[in-house]
Amino acid sequence: MKHPESFDQIDQWKSAMFLYSSALKSINTKIEILNNEYVQLYNYSPIEHITSRLKTPESIVKKLKHDRREVTIENMVEYLNDIAGVRIICSFMSDIYPIADMIARQADITVLHVKDYIKYPKSNGYKSYHMVVTIPVYLTDGKRDTKVEIQIRTIAMDFWATLEHKIAYKFEGNPPDNLETELKTCADMVTMLDAKMFSLNQAIMEIGEKQRREREERRQRAMELGEKNQP
Ligand code: GTP
Ligand code: MG
Repeated sequence: MKHPESFDQIDQWKSAMFLYSSALKSINTKIEILNNEYVQLYNYSPIEHITSRLKTPESIVKKLKHDRREVTIENMVEYLNDIAGVRIICSFMSDIYPIADMIARQADITVLHVKDYIKYPKSNGYKSYHMVVTIPVYLTDGKRDTKVEIQIRTIAMDFWATLEHKIAYKFEGNPPDNLETELKTCADMVTMLDAKMFSLNQAIMEIGEKQRREREERRQRAMELGEKNQP
């Protein structure tokens, strides 16, 4: 793949990457529609924002070599799950599973596997919900089910993961002990912050609900009074 030996391989590479980028478009639209429907129904947007990316050729080669596989397009398609990747960032912990369920319920999406680092955080403190799915891409001669890795996490979890990723990259996976401990402390703070934000949001919603009920009661009473006072 580094120096494609033939035009055949270049074509094969282009076709594969075309599928992945089409799958990304398709899944992005799907997720956007689901979020918009939620806004329509409940006046609430569970998704803060979505990012997506295609794995670079360099990372693809690096990953295959790391996994001790021959660098071929067949191996990349067969063994790499995250060539197409989508990250869904939500505000609250409570949004994560409903979003995952909405995606899994789609008739044309197949969930291949799930890694629940929300329920079972990694020892370094990493939290996120991962699913590898396939989504069909419709070509002129039929459909191709294409793999996409979806990561769902809160803004706070994303903040942590971004910093941790930079540090891990800088120290090539061997950060100094104290940094690891500090990061773990930050991860615990992220968990606390997410829990606090969740309960704060609950409280705000309850106040809103109470005000709505009171307004409704006042309206009802005014109507009853009006009826009574009619000649
Ligand atoms: P990779 O070989 O890294 O793709 O891992 P995997 O095939 O075992 O899958 P997993 O679901 O564990 O991780 C997939 C992706 O999640 C990674 O490529 C990262 O984007 C993210 N990830 C997993 N663990 C960590 C972590 O400890 N820190 C950060 N910052 N990101 C992580
Ligand atoms: Mg990966």
